Amino acid sequence: MNVILDVDTGVDDAMALLLAARSPDVNLLGVTCVMGNVELKKVVPNTLKVLEVAGRTDVPVARGMNQPLNEKQYNAKGVHGDDGMGNLGLPPAQRQEEPVHAVEFLRRTLMESPEPITLIPLAPLTNIAVLLLQHPEVLPKIKQLYIMGGAIGMGNASATAEFNVRQDPEAADIVFRSGLPILMYGLEVFRQVTFTRAEAQSFIESGKPAAKLAGQLLTFFMDNFNRDAAGIGDGGCVASFIDPAGLTIESYPVRVELTGTWTRGQTVVDRRPAITAQRESAWQPPMNTMIDVAVDIEADRYRDIFRRAILG
Ligand code: RIB
Ligand code: CA
Repeated sequence: MNVILDVDTGVDDAMALLLAARSPDVNLLGVTCVMGNVELKKVVPNTLKVLEVAGRTDVPVARGMNQPLNEKQYNAKGVHGDDGMGNLGLPPAQRQEEPVHAVEFLRRTLMESPEPITLIPLAPLTNIAVLLLQHPEVLPKIKQLYIMGGAIGMGNASATAEFNVRQDPEAADIVFRSGLPILMYGLEVFRQVTFTRAEAQSFIESGKPAAKLAGQLLTFFMDNFNRDAAGIGDGGCVASFIDPAGLTIESYPVRVELTGTWTRGQTVVDRRPAITAQRESAWQPPMNTMIDVAVDIEADRYRDIFRRAILG
């Protein structure tokens, strides 16, 4: 399955990259980088490094947007470490990114492809929004957007908003209203694919570079949050793309809140009965955007997919 990942590497983006790079089911056509967990200037070398560890220096990497469309950049270094890679201090990758902007890389790859390609954004949606605004001709060449972003209920960046959407709400709104087929892999399922400290240690001791890096990053997460388990986050999104049968998916109207003091960046999921949600109301206009939302997940299924890919 032909895919392009859009990342803000990031500990859990690294999990997603390791899986996508090593899965026999994925043809990783490229990786585009955007600011998010850390500044773009760190996201790019982190991404190159993870692909090198995965043995995939053939996969092109392109640098994208380094600021949100209309929001201050806050990053999430408290979660991912100052370097965005668990402060592991890994030596830099040997190769450089492509000499082309991520948006142009996406446009060119999509337009040159004989069949539509799935995009898997695992970061603020700035690159994707700019692509759709600047090059609407790519719309028929995008098979689906398989997005790690949003939440049905409790947020993480705020009470109501998930980080990727909160860091660039305008970009998320543009993407969610694009009319493209979207699968929203939100926090409710994102949180559930985890590994224990013992499993992370077994990855480190496996002698396999990809597994060792995954184990080290998971251990960083556990030490950082003083827990005995840690999630592969974005990695679960890629695992569920590889084998969607482990997701429970329901279709709802979804809109991104842009103006609420307490709710900016919330993905408002209208779970009322369709007949009610579609009715004109004095309280709320109809949302008119149906999104496939992951509401439950078979975590063991995706732990197995991840484990097999990194252990080879
Ligand atoms: O809210 C979690 C998401 O934000 C993940 O993709 C994480 O890597 C950060 O980008
Ligand atoms: Ca991410």
